[in-house]
Order: sequence, then structure tokens, then C-alpha cells
Amino acid sequence: MTAVGIDGIEIRTGKLQLDLAETFAPAQDEDPGKYTEGLGLHASSFPDVYEDIVTMGANAAHRLMERKGLTPADIGRIDVATESAFDNSKPVSTYIAGCLEQVYDDNFHHANKGERKFACISGTQSLDDAYNWIRAGRNRGRKALVIATDTALYARDDPGEATQGAGAVAMLVDEDPGLVELSTEQGFGSADETDFLKPNQQFPSVDGKRSMKVYLARMREALEDFESAAGDTHPNDYELVPFHTPFPGMVRKAAALGYRHVVRDTDVEISIAEEIGRQPRREEYKSQEQYFDAVKEYTDALTETERYQAWYADAIEPTLEIAREVGNWYTGSVHVARVAGLKQALEHDRAMAEKKLLVASYGSGAQAEIHAETVVSGWKEEIAALNIDEQLDRRHDISFEEYERIHDVHNHDTENDADAEELITPTQEFVFDGWGRMGERKYRYVR
Ligand code: CAA
Repeated sequence: MTAVGIDGIEIRTGKLQLDLAETFAPAQDEDPGKYTEGLGLHASSFPDVYEDIVTMGANAAHRLMERKGLTPADIGRIDVATESAFDNSKPVSTYIAGCLEQVYDDNFHHANKGERKFACISGTQSLDDAYNWIRAGRNRGRKALVIATDTALYARDDPGEATQGAGAVAMLVDEDPGLVELSTEQGFGSADETDFLKPNQQFPSVDGKRSMKVYLARMREALEDFESAAGDTHPNDYELVPFHTPFPGMVRKAAALGYRHVVRDTDVEISIAEEIGRQPRREEYKSQEQYFDAVKEYTDALTETERYQAWYADAIEPTLEIAREVGNWYTGSVHVARVAGLKQALEHDRAMAEKKLLVASYGSGAQAEIHAETVVSGWKEEIAALNIDEQLDRRHDISFEEYERIHDVHNHDTENDADAEELITPTQEFVFDGWGRMGERKYRYVR
């Protein structure tokens, strides 16, 4: 069977940054440690006044196409995953295609375009759609463009405000991929949940604490389902485990639960039993409550062991490096985690070709999905071609007053962004260019 997977990837961050410890924490009268240690975040990325989900997606896709020497005729499918769309009918992929057509001679008139919605997991679902389209032999030799793009903003003074972010990830899905091959096995954990939703509003209604519990519950189900398809997992099977990362502190919790689950009845459990005992088994406890208390105690002890900490440092920590600097990108978040892990592997000269990743996606509402990926031999060139470090260094560090203004600009109120003053002069990129007569957003390429 021909390998199908991600051939190339590009990341585009919003061009502004809000320093959480230095700027946001004092304004909120909070201890900076809540952000840097508790949530694990240093900064949030924000779009300048002319940036939005379309410009960030189009700019990421443009760089990817240029790097790969592609023109629109090479693309048979454009799927955009977002939870920040501004139109309930016309998909964001048409806007992005329209942008790209400004800079290419040919067009995307024969590409199937769509928009995927299931909170943050829709980026991974769009990858699935592209994979299935190619596997079904319907691509006629063409490639799929998958773009995950979001402005993850929360209402002012909502606890989620600490975890904001904005950016896009563009992925090229193809046969004989240059970065990772996707596995056929997948596991799902899915249930009707009311933890985080946006009922026709730009800023979400969130039950933050509940959303964290739901994330963990669905992730556990997805892992069990994945194991039922792919067989038991062992930590040594996977070099990196990129998770959906609303903030690194969430991944810290999910990783501990996942590790505890996969090491049960393995050599790892036996090897640390002398130090912290065996994992509690349900049948050993009179009540569910006693069992849960024992599990919590065991998990806390587990995360203190050298064995766990070494695994975490190798498999998880590298995947969080970009998220710490940019915050939550919703649909793009798990794909940023994959890139961050591979980028650090490149910087540390880790041998990754033929190694496996276990990728754990999540979307509120709620669904988790887990699948494996195999890194392929071209991975180093792909990762070395990224310019995310330069983008991060170039960001404008906004003051709290600028943050208040920028937050207003992006609240989807047409009055607000008409005359807003930019903070960085745009160059060689797609920008928002005002509103059209039917309420559409217009874009142009700045040379
Ligand atoms: N030093 C060190 N740590 C500190 C600290 C300090 N001075 N002050 C607080 N902390 C720690 C807290 O102990 C806590 O860590 P633990 O959970 O490990 O105990 C952490 O910092 C956060 O502090 P709080 O719990 O007090 O923070 P909060 O209640 O204000 O908000 C939140 C946290 C509920 C996650 C909020 O940011 C939120 O609502 N976020 C949006 C929802 C979200 O991201 N949910 C995640 C799962 S859902 C999902 O993943 C989908 C998605 O993308 C949205």
C-alpha cells in the first residue's frame, strides 16, 4: 500500500505578542507564576489589524506552495478547519483560494473546497478527509491542502483569556509524503458535552474546569479505542506524543493519565513498583471514591519518578515549545505540537526517520482522536525549511492598552476594524482590505 501522509507543513503566527507574565499578569492583578508555571505559557500571539483567519491561512499556504514548487492545478482539494469562521455559508477555503489566485496564473476551479467544524479536532478530521480522498483513488494525482486557522480569543475577563492565541497551520497531504505517514488505525472518544461552545458568537461560552475533565475523559476513551484497533501501546513505541495543547499545563495532566494507562501490566509498572507500589486495581477497593483517591495518589507519585520524568522530557516537553510562546491555536494546536517536537528533534540531532509519533487530538463538545504516524526520511529538510523562529522573533510586543484595542478589533464587529491602526507594516503577504457590498471580507496581496 502506498504511504499517504503529510508531505509538507507551514506555520503562520499572528504578528503580535502579549507577554503574559510581564504585561497581562500585572494588569489582571495575578501572580505571573499562574501563567508561566501553572498554565505553562509565556506569551499569546495575536493578529495585527489586517490579519485574520483568512490571511494567516493564505499566507501559510502560499509559503508552502512556493516551497514545494506547486501551482493551483496541483491541488485537488482545500479543506479549512476553523472555529473562528465569520460566515455560516461561504467557506473560508473559498476566501483562501481567492487570495492565492491573486498571486498565481492558474486557479483552483477544479478543487473541492470545504470547511470542517468540530471545535479544535476539525484540523485532524480534515487530515482524515484528505487521507481518505487519496486512499479512495479520487485525487487524480493531485494533492490536498489542509489549513487549520483560528483566532482563539475569549471575552475579556473570562478565565480563558489567559490561554488565547492566533495562527494557522497549512499541511500538504499526498502520496509518498516527505514528513509523516498516517496510520490506518485510529481511536475515538466522543460524547455530547456542553463544556465549550460558540453559539453564533465570536467569544466562546466556557466552563473551563469542566472542559479540562471532559478533555481527559474523552482522551482516555480514545486511547482505549486506539488500543483495541492497534494493540496495546507501550511508551517505548513512540518517540514523541503531540497532544492538542490549549495550554501546556493541560498536556501535563493528560500525559500523566496516558502514561499510567499504557504502563499498566508492563515491565515499566513492575520496575517502579518498589518505589511507588503497583497501580491500584478497582477490585481492591470497596468504593469508586476510594479507588479514585488511590489512583490520584498513585498518579502523583508516578509523575515524581525518574522513569516518568525522563519519558516526559523526551516525548512530551519538546512538543510544547512553540505553544508556550503562542498560546492556543484551536484547530492548529496539535499540528503545532507535532512540528515543535520534530523541530526540537532536529535541533538535538535525534534520529527520527522510521520512528513513530502518537498524535492525540481533541475538540470540545467533545471528541478525542488518537492515531499513530511514522516519520519518513525527508523529515529533516521539511522541518529545517520552517521559519517559525524568525516569525516569533519579529512579533511586536504589545502593551496592555494595545492589547485592549486589538482584542476589540477582532471581536467580529464590523464597526471596529474599519479604521484601526496597524502595528506592523505589512509586506509580501495577504491582508484584510475592508468590507464588500454584500458583507463579505475582502483581501489583497501587499507586494
Ligand atoms: N504559581 C504556579 N502555579 C499557579 C499559580 C502560581 N502563582 N497560580 C495558579 N497556579 C496554577 C493552578 O494551581 C492551576 O494548576 P493546576 O490545574 O495544576 O492546579 C493553574 O495554575 C491554572 O490556575 P487556575 O486553575 O486558578 O486558573 P483559572 O481557573 O483562572 O483558569 C482554565 C484555568 C480553566 C484552564 C482557564 O484558562 C480556561 O477556562 N481556559 C479555556 C478552556 C480550556 O482551555 N480548557 C482546556 C480543555 S478544553 C480544550 O482543550 C479545547 C480548547 O482548546 C479550548
